[in-house]
Amino acid sequence: MNHQVSSPMSQSMDTPTGRVLVTGALGQIGTELVEALRQKFGNDCVIATDIRESKGCQLLDVMDKTGIEQIVKSENITEIYHLAALLSATGEKNPELCWKINVEGLENVIRVAKKHDCRVFSPSSIAVFGPDCPKLAPQVTPLNPTTVYGKTKVIGEELAINSGIDMRGIRYPGLISYKAPAGGGTTDYAVEIFHAALENGHYECFVREDTKLPMMYMDDAIRATLELMAIPIEQLSEARGGYNISGCSFTASELVESIQRHLPDFTCTFKPDIRQTYADSWPDEIEDNVAQNEWSWKANYNLDKMVDEMIVNLQNQSSS
Ligand code: NAD
Ligand code: SER
Repeated sequence: MNHQVSSPMSQSMDTPTGRVLVTGALGQIGTELVEALRQKFGNDCVIATDIRESKGCQLLDVMDKTGIEQIVKSENITEIYHLAALLSATGEKNPELCWKINVEGLENVIRVAKKHDCRVFSPSSIAVFGPDCPKLAPQVTPLNPTTVYGKTKVIGEELAINSGIDMRGIRYPGLISYKAPAGGGTTDYAVEIFHAALENGHYECFVREDTKLPMMYMDDAIRATLELMAIPIEQLSEARGGYNISGCSFTASELVESIQRHLPDFTCTFKPDIRQTYADSWPDEIEDNVAQNEWSWKANYNLDKMVDEMIVNLQNQSSS
């Protein structure tokens, strides 16, 4: 195994030497990460791409090796945020496609990154853990996920350490945001519930009320990503393949109660489907002492603060 990292990785990356490429840029994370990267580095410095078409975003399928290399060369890319993937619920419906996009797509990006000296950020997930993991998940523990999606994320973490490039990841918890819809994941209920509460006053939740999962407000997740990418590689251990970061953990019924502080008439019923199985295989909470020690990670949002922000922002969005 090659644990050697080639030269450009040693630089502190608060300002990239070239441009930044984002794959899967139109998704839940990309929508906000592109905005944050453009604010940090300037509009022209950030090339947003996706397999779907949209203004301000170039077409790029991560299965197209030549296409990735062409864009990296022509746009002078030195840093790649690789967000193109299938999430757990969509992935378990089509495991072969999930494997193809999440593993082969990542390998395509790594191959080009290695050839053209690019640093890579590639998200991992709490889905790397399996049912044998303690309910409070440590950074280092056997990774035995039961979902195909989780297995692709374990491979992603291994590639981050063994591919010889500066590649980093975060085991994002379920992410909660208001700017773009959640994309086919198990934790989508924690986003859908806000839209349903405001639009209909009722939500039918696809996990049980006592289901507890690690979650995080998107602002924290974006900040974590930028903070991790700004740290010199020498300061990071092999946890850089996928850092545990903790935001807030809550049960579905605690989320309902927090929303009811704003909307007292809101009701929620619980009708678990197959996604309950995936949720049950993941831990309740995340231990993030390694991220705290190595790059001073600290979340800003607890459950109530996150709910307050979601409600206010969605209400503002619908009245404008
Ligand atoms: P998303 O589903 O919202 O977005 C993924 C984007 O990838 C979509 O815009 C889609 O069009 C694009 N895409 C799909 N196939 C593609 C292909 N072949 N080529 C190029 N683009 C393609 O996902 P997200 O929530 O933004 O997640 C981004 C990353 O973060 C993924 O790796 C995901 O596993 C990880 N992650 C997300 C969460 C979460 O709660 N959102 C949690 C943990 C990890
Ligand atoms: N939020 C993601 C999902 O539910 C976890 O990676 O699939």
